[in-house]
Amino acid sequence: MLAHKRILLVIGGGIAAYKSLDLIRRLKERGASVRVIMTAAAQHFVTPLAAGALSHTKVFTELFDREAEHDIGHIRLSREADLVIVAPATADLMAKMAHGLADDLASAVLLASDKPVLVAPAMNPLMWANPATARNVAQLAADGVAFVGPNAGAMAERGEDGPGRMAEPLEIVAAAETRLAVAGPLTGRHVLVTSGPTHEPIDPVRYIANRSSGKQGHAIAAAAARAGAQVTLVSGPVNLPDPAGVAVRHVETAREMLAAVEAALPADAAIFAAAVADWRAATEAGEKMKKDGQAIPALPLAENPDILATVARLANRRPRLVIGFAAETENVVAYAQVKRLRKGCDWILANDVSPRSGIDGGVMGGDENLIHLISEKGVEHWPRASKAEVAERLVARVATALGPLETLS
Ligand code: PMT
Repeated sequence: MLAHKRILLVIGGGIAAYKSLDLIRRLKERGASVRVIMTAAAQHFVTPLAAGALSHTKVFTELFDREAEHDIGHIRLSREADLVIVAPATADLMAKMAHGLADDLASAVLLASDKPVLVAPAMNPLMWANPATARNVAQLAADGVAFVGPNAGAMAERGEDGPGRMAEPLEIVAAAETRLAVAGPLTGRHVLVTSGPTHEPIDPVRYIANRSSGKQGHAIAAAAARAGAQVTLVSGPVNLPDPAGVAVRHVETAREMLAAVEAALPADAAIFAAAVADWRAATEAGEKMKKDGQAIPALPLAENPDILATVARLANRRPRLVIGFAAETENVVAYAQVKRLRKGCDWILANDVSPRSGIDGGVMGGDENLIHLISEKGVEHWPRASKAEVAERLVARVATALGPLETLS
């Protein structure tokens, strides 16, 4: 898929820059040609000589370089690429991209580019969690930039752990393939998906949760990306890898999920597959609740915000298509019909999450699903299928419902 593709790789300044050398090698192994731009900070970590030796081309570093401008020029550099990859993308570089700054070669080329952009962030977990970074990520996702990673794990700084590690070179290659493969029915569309459970803390070690694995929501996000959409996936805690070519926002609680969903808008379609906890502990104990000699504690609950209903009722930023799921254990279709009207969504996909569903491992957690699609037109009963097949079918329906992209004449 990468054979004969022209990749422009922008290497930002971070310790993960050493992995970008391997990325060059992996891209070239697959037949891509790779041009490299390095920021000034990147050159503290790896040398242009090393990047040039692996890419077999001159590495570009300066905005005002007479020789380079004469040779190719930074505007041409941005245009003569099928895909621009920014890896590692530092917090600073992403902030520049989000705000349209162009004070060095890397940021100027990114601003001048009309090509698809794939970003592999790498930074300290606190920088990644900072609301300023979250705003920039949301802005870039809304601008059509795709993300791969960051992954969670140990940082170069001793003792630091959390999301912020750059995705591995092969993950970036897979995301690049997805990004390039896609001139599909959802190209130019932004699709927002929620997935997985939420965890609602009771005290520092206990939480309220449910059995959702995220398999269905993640499959939908992956299918939408394959269909060409720019996809934002807001995921509760799951044991699944981030789907390739998808911007993933990891959250724990329903309130965090709502904030991440709102930050990701606008979207053309929003699909709510997450099993959001309806209630949370009314107060979260600051210390572990002790058992010794105490009476069994009462657990007063408070209602969580309804994310689907909130988005479906937005006056200005309501996605054109708002799709919910309904997890029912009895009267599946009838209850889901009521839920669709109560929550104000366009379609609802009802599934039977009771042990009677007949699905190995259950619909929550298992690999299959049996869907009843409810819309204002009535009820469609889909055959039992893998979650991947359900996702493909739903994405095809979304593409048909949104129709061709309106272009300005
Ligand atoms: O994750 P898997 O193991 O693959 O399982 C898939 C699934 C069973 C979780 C999925 O197919 C599914 O049914 N998701 C919705 C589960 C659910 O919470 O259903 P609900 O009937 O309680 O909620 C109805 C809709 O409102 C859902 O779209 C839900 O995301 C949304 N909701 C619910 C509560 C809340 N506070 N905010 C919400 O947005």
